[in-house]
Amino acid sequence: MIRVKFVSADGGQVIETEAAEGLALLEVAQNAGQPLEGTCEGQMACSTCHVIVAAEDFARLPRASEDEEDMLDLATGATRTSRLACQIVLTRALDGLTVRMPPEHRDMQGR
Ligand code: FES
Repeated sequence: MIRVKFVSADGGQVIETEAAEGLALLEVAQNAGQPLEGTCEGQMACSTCHVIVAAEDFARLPRASEDEEDMLDLATGATRTSRLACQIVLTRALDGLTVRMPPEHRDMQGR
């Protein structure tokens, strides 16, 4: 099992989970109750699966494809360590990965 840590947009809530190798990070996040819509189901057409990878973990991820980079350019609150969770497949090399939810998610603006 691969350990993954999800941090809320404001940093106030941390959820640690474990998931099987080979799963997409988007799926793992949704299973852990994270607010990622993933509307296009991994087709790189929506950017609603945008997450911010912890700076110290970013280099462990395989590079983003050009298509992914293009989508990230459109994502709200994207940073230099932003990625699309649907494009990240869990491997042993990613054990202990920490990602943060992006700011300005719809749930954050509601009452
Ligand atoms: Fe749409 Fe990842 S689910 S880009």
